[in-house]
Amino acid sequence: MKSRILSGMQPSGRLHLGNYMGALANWITLQDQYDGYFFVADWHALSTNYADTAHIQAFTRDMVIDWLSAGLDPDKATIFIQSQVPNHAVLHVLLSMITPIPWLERIPTYKEQQEQLEDRDLSTYGFLGYPILQSADVLIYNADFVPVGIDQAPHVELTRAIARRFNSLYTPVFKEPQTLLTETPKLPGTDGRKMSKSYNNAIYLSDPEDTVREKLRTMVTDPARKRRKDPGNPDVCPVYDLHKVYSGQPVLEQVNNECRTAEIGCIDCKKHLGDALVDRLQPIWERNRTIRETPTLVDEVVREGAKRAQTTSHVTMDSVRQAMGI
Ligand code: TRP
Ligand code: SF4
Repeated sequence: MKSRILSGMQPSGRLHLGNYMGALANWITLQDQYDGYFFVADWHALSTNYADTAHIQAFTRDMVIDWLSAGLDPDKATIFIQSQVPNHAVLHVLLSMITPIPWLERIPTYKEQQEQLEDRDLSTYGFLGYPILQSADVLIYNADFVPVGIDQAPHVELTRAIARRFNSLYTPVFKEPQTLLTETPKLPGTDGRKMSKSYNNAIYLSDPEDTVREKLRTMVTDPARKRRKDPGNPDVCPVYDLHKVYSGQPVLEQVNNECRTAEIGCIDCKKHLGDALVDRLQPIWERNRTIRETPTLVDEVVREGAKRAQTTSHVTMDSVRQAMGI
């Protein structure tokens, strides 16, 4: 029996290279080795976006399309949408009965997000309870591991604490899941800052080839290279940071040497990067085309995924109800 992993992503629109190199590429590696459950956390999105829900459905669908395009495989993993498996909400309400409020208030993201998103009223019950919903997401499938970035580690810690509290109050039902830490390479965007949707500097998985090349063309470089003959320093150039992720050793060495002597110009350097990126994205674009030609495919995948998820979750819910005497 394979160990089970479970992870989710909030529907935030199309995925960019930074999202892909972090969580998604990792899921795709893990799906062969583990029994994977991957879902779009659309209820979670409500916790901060309840006042503006206009895009949640479209973002949810786009996210599934990006996942499938990138190579997440419904024959290997269970892919679904959180709101299509109502048991997440059922377990959430039961776990909320046993979770002390101070456990929620001391999770770092609670205060951080309230400060960052100061234009929104996040004094809601749902926002405070968000980590309980996440705990329910994990515990309902008895996941062994939760592949997430370091920012989510406190949520997995809470999940473990809730599992322990439940098991000691009633009977042992839940296992304590472990964090499977995802290494996230730091990808710069076209302006040199961290690649992020909100900075408007991102290259998206679904960008067509000319858009990718055009974004690279205008990407910032070592500012010391004002003219073609000015030598540069790859160590301070965001283009070179992308080379390190996407280009092979020979190109890396060539750029590293020839940039410093001004033998290579930024235009050619970026062309090499564009080629490497296109190689990497080509299979994703091809799968994307197939998916778009079969409009019912996404619905079928998530319907099948929700059915499997619902079946698995039923087993846990039966034990939970019995343990709680409900
Ligand atoms: N909170 C996670 C995030 O914002 C998404 C998420 C929801 C999740 N439920 C989960 C991740 C369960 C792992 C397991 O990134
Ligand atoms: Fe950056 Fe390449 Fe130009 Fe050097 S040649 S400054 S690494 S883009």
